[in-house]
Amino acid sequence: MKRLLTIVTALALGLVFVGCTHKQAKYVIGISQCSEDIWRDKQNAELRMCAYFHDGVELKFAAAYDSDERQVQQIDSLVNSGIDLLVVAPNQVQTISPAIDRAYDKGIPVIVFERKTSSEKFTAFISADNYEMGRVMGEYIVARLHGQGNVMEIKGLEGSSPSIERHNGFMDAIKQAPGIQVVASLQGDWTEPTAYETTRQWLANHQDVRIDLMFGANDRTAMGARKAFLPLAPRSMPLFCGIDGLPGENGGIQLVRDSLLDASYIYPTHGDQIIDLAIRILEGKPYGKETLLMSALVTRDNAKVLLMESEEIMRQASQLDLLHSKADSYLRDHFNREYFKGQQTIVPKDGQKVTAVFKQ
Ligand code: FRU
Repeated sequence: MKRLLTIVTALALGLVFVGCTHKQAKYVIGISQCSEDIWRDKQNAELRMCAYFHDGVELKFAAAYDSDERQVQQIDSLVNSGIDLLVVAPNQVQTISPAIDRAYDKGIPVIVFERKTSSEKFTAFISADNYEMGRVMGEYIVARLHGQGNVMEIKGLEGSSPSIERHNGFMDAIKQAPGIQVVASLQGDWTEPTAYETTRQWLANHQDVRIDLMFGANDRTAMGARKAFLPLAPRSMPLFCGIDGLPGENGGIQLVRDSLLDASYIYPTHGDQIIDLAIRILEGKPYGKETLLMSALVTRDNAKVLLMESEEIMRQASQLDLLHSKADSYLRDHFNREYFKGQQTIVPKDGQKVTAVFKQ
């Protein structure tokens, strides 16, 4: 707590000095997100927050809403707008590579994060280990079912690397337990509506099959499937497991605490580490070509504690944000006061004299 306060104070002071200069951006970083959802909202907020710490860093965001075509266009236009570095989460492994190659061939450093590309043309890669997550979740499921039962899986978007890797890890773990049957391995696309519809249709065609546990490639998928199972509750309601383990309202940690999900796995967003890596590359400092982010299983045993901790961090983060905007507006006022010195005096209704006019 004390440490956090020190950081907040240091940041506030830092912001004052950084803001005072009103300089043009030294580095423009383009962020190409494959999707728009709560996981990426959290990450974008962290990227923004961490950019505050660095003098003269401007971020340009683009979200492709799960469309390969749109992401390719967005990367090309970010590159044409004159970015100094590209950060990209490719929607699928193959499809985005040509645009990434074009950026790299123009001499723009490229950080690929969280989802992989088939191209070798990137400067650094940063992600958690998706195979390992699927494997650990598979082992958890085997233990949870005491080695016996029917499991259903809904995968992530076809052709996206976390979907392929999570599935492979999960299957490798399940193979070790002969008493567990994967009775359905269905194609999802990371979204809740698709998971709902896919599950609903499957259940309509397999009314006599009992499912003991349903594994969704992410928490939204698991929750979509859960909705489709609800008419069968409570008699034939399986356990639900997902991945993402987000903090906050309706995030995976809360869903586990409230027993809507049986388990989740924290898929780290770590926007701060991405910005730090980008700055190291831009400043010519040494950096790791591949950074592996740590993550952990969320179960009923630790969900409460994890939720408390994450709420505290989120509270501090929003204070930091508030401080940033306060420091910003103070600096604008200060700048305008100096700029318009002696030029104009406004007397607002409450009688207080103000010798500054804000200039857009
Ligand atoms: C967010 C997301 C997560 C999932 C990840 C996989 O866009 O769909 O829910 O874990 O992407 O890349």
